[in-house]
Amino acid sequence: TDPGPLQDFCVADLESPLFINGFPCKNPSHLTSDDFFYDGLKKRGTIFDALNVNLTQVDVYAFPGLNTLGMSMNRVDFLPGGLNPPHNHPRATELSLVVEGKLFVGWVTTDYILYWKVLTAGELFVIPPGLVHFQLNVGEGRALFYASFNSQNPGITIMAEALFDSTPLIPDPVLSKAFHVNDTIIELIKSRVAALY
Ligand code: GLV
Ligand code: MN
Repeated sequence: TDPGPLQDFCVADLESPLFINGFPCKNPSHLTSDDFFYDGLKKRGTIFDALNVNLTQVDVYAFPGLNTLGMSMNRVDFLPGGLNPPHNHPRATELSLVVEGKLFVGWVTTDYILYWKVLTAGELFVIPPGLVHFQLNVGEGRALFYASFNSQNPGITIMAEALFDSTPLIPDPVLSKAFHVNDTIIELIKSRVAALY
């Protein structure tokens, strides 16, 4: 969903003091082949203990060569039972390929319908732009998938963090009313989520 490029490429100059939509281009005469290659997805990321998952994001910040090209990629590794928690990408559709293991994948529409499936190696899933989704490793061993996005900067909002671990925090009465529980429960969830992230 990014706008199209107006030139062949525009490798991001992440240090530029300019603030524009995207990033200014590095001087093309200073570029080398390495500006268009990225090897950081070869290895498994460090597993984040609390959820037994790791997300390695290759957006324009990690790979400046993606600037203006409207695409990016993630690698997501799971230990058994690992969860990539409910989240959305405000600026992209996600198309993903399962490479290893067995994943329960689901997403929810704006009519609150859950679409889901259990997927194994070689299978694809697509998440429409901006919708909330998750993946849970339901296999015996590790699981791995690669996600591609139609944005150089899809963004990610993890629901639990957005609601219970923002800076500053959302006041308890907002959440206790929204979830129809008392403030004690909200305080408990806030402390648990804060300990997670
Ligand atoms: C998976 O949903 C991802 O965003 O990488
Ligand atoms: Mn996602």
